[in-house]
Amino acid sequence: MTIIAPSILAADFSRMGEEVRALDEAGADWIHVDIMDGHFVPNLTMGPAMVSAVRPYSDKRLDVHLMITGVDAVLQQYASAGADSVTIHAESGPHIHRSIQLAHDLGMQAGVAINPGTPLETVTPLLDDVEMVLLMSVNPGFGGQRFIPQTLDRVRRLRTLIGLRPVVIQIDGGVTAANAAALVAAGADSLVAGSAVFAGGTPQAYAENIEAIRCAIDGRRSRDLFRDGITADGAA
Ligand code: DX5
Ligand code: ZN
Repeated sequence: MTIIAPSILAADFSRMGEEVRALDEAGADWIHVDIMDGHFVPNLTMGPAMVSAVRPYSDKRLDVHLMITGVDAVLQQYASAGADSVTIHAESGPHIHRSIQLAHDLGMQAGVAINPGTPLETVTPLLDDVEMVLLMSVNPGFGGQRFIPQTLDRVRRLRTLIGLRPVVIQIDGGVTAANAAALVAAGADSLVAGSAVFAGGTPQAYAENIEAIRCAIDGRRSRDLFRDGITADGAA
């Protein structure tokens, strides 16, 4: 089953705990937490305090995406805050392999993320050490951006690079019900979605949006998809 990981970057920050509980009850598999430091990306969002604040609101995996520099100095804080996994950008420093080791030493699962302009081969040396590879399908820093279509071919090529290793491919950025099926068909295991899940702004809407993504992947029509005329294979 495809892992749906809504990004709380698109949530109402003034009610984040309730929003995480609503995602949990709406059928999210993981909770994607977008950490940004204003240096690695031109935006500043949240830090370990937010991870510990939302931890009590869901038992599901807190899938922490670190869009920051100086990762090694703060990994302990994310482990203490309750992060189940951290995904570290290969571009964020010279010692990505050491950071992955440190995340594991702290008891967290570890992923490596790469931006749209970073060659896939960058992750090859890490494929025996990580549990996940996150392929950015937008340039990191903001929600609500347009999906970069070249990502589909990168998913297929990455799946070949991974081979039989038990490594999850996660796609992050511009994911919607319209492109979800193609991404899964290309080899994606986990889809991050912020604006596509939070559209409508109510817990009921979150559940419908998650279901619409699942229906698109399964080739079923959901009420929303039918209304919008989007077919199961994502054609509008
Ligand atoms: C962007 C973040 C993504 C983003 C996804 O830097 O890593 O997780 O919040 O938001 P949408 O789904 O709206 O593109
Ligand atoms: Zn993210």
